[in-house]
Amino acid sequence: MNEPIARITSDSDQPLRNLGNTDIRIAPVGMGCWPIAGMTSIGVNDQDSIRTVQKAIDCGVNMLDTAFGYGADGESDRLIRKSIIGRREQVVIASKAGMHWTADGKRCFDASPDRIRLECEASLVRLGVDEIDLFYLHAVDPNVALQDSARAFERLRLEGKIRSVGVSNVTIEELISFDRVCEVAAVQPPYNMLQRGIETDLIPWCIQRNVSVINYWPLMKGLLAGKIRRRHAFDPADKRLTYEVFQGEQFEHAQKLLDCLDSIAKAAGKTVAQVVVNWTIHQPGITATLCGAKRDWQIEETAGGMGWRLEDADLDQISQFLQ
Ligand SMILES: NC(=O)c1ccc[n+]([C@@H]2O[C@H](COP(=O)([O-])OP(=O)(O)OC[C@H]3O[C@@H](n4cnc5c(N)ncnc54)[C@H](OP(=O)(O)O)[C@@H]3O)[C@@H](O)[C@H]2O)c1
Repeated sequence: MNEPIARITSDSDQPLRNLGNTDIRIAPVGMGCWPIAGMTSIGVNDQDSIRTVQKAIDCGVNMLDTAFGYGADGESDRLIRKSIIGRREQVVIASKAGMHWTADGKRCFDASPDRIRLECEASLVRLGVDEIDLFYLHAVDPNVALQDSARAFERLRLEGKIRSVGVSNVTIEELISFDRVCEVAAVQPPYNMLQRGIETDLIPWCIQRNVSVINYWPLMKGLLAGKIRRRHAFDPADKRLTYEVFQGEQFEHAQKLLDCLDSIAKAAGKTVAQVVVNWTIHQPGITATLCGAKRDWQIEETAGGMGWRLEDADLDQISQFLQ
């Protein structure tokens, strides 16, 4: 029988939140480790990446979100391993199975039971841990019955290789169907001020069932961090330019939102990124939000989005804009 986890980070006074029905406690800001995998982010290097993960822990960010597919060969996992030496008990490691990269660089979704087991066992070795605290199905594999994928996760949980189970990128129907076979502690969808589709179906179900919603893209890949403004000179290699929200009318709409957030941030003595994070972690049903970072100052800034609360008047102003 495993000891209950109450992993509390160093000197943080940040109140932790329960992860679903488990005994795992997480801070409302988690660190997204996709950028440090270096597959789409520009200017990534090991030294800065390790410094970033360590800064996250120092700032009270106790959940590190990785995946088998974060890097062609587990780059994110290996950097986490190096960053948490002597600090394993301070962190909650969340990972995912069901997506990998082929030798010729193509993304492949395979959530067959054998593949899920293989990815879990490989991740344990790469991360240098005995158990993954939260293990998600990365995405539904259309070629595999969802119940079969769910049974594979349940088996890994019973064997003690993973502590709890999550699902990512699922519809409400898929979530319910998976949960019938294997209890879900957390769901990981995209969600931010500009993408709020889950508020009508997934979030109410999760609140009712005490399932944590841990959203990704709170900063909309950096756009809502407030530093990418109208005349931003994008590096031509910056893959974000392919996202619609970084183009045309959608980009201008985001800029108008940032204009509104600028004044709220100024009055609150916070940065725009901190206002965005604070808004996100206080939305109903959101247990934690995953902030990606590749530099220590970035996670330090976004971690500063927790530990306080926006005034009601500010929340009203944001709601009015978003409506
Ligand atoms: N389950 C899934 O399918 C899925 C999908 C996507 C993401 N995720 C998870 O969610 C996490 C978050 O998503 P994400 O990393 O793609 O996007 P994000 O958190 O919305 O944005 C992260 C990017 O914003 C920029 N940034 C971060 N902090 C900043 C700051 N303080 N000031 C200015 N810019 C800042 C950085 O980009 P630059 O430095 O390059 O400007 C960083 O790479 C991922 O890392 C991953 O763990 C999961």
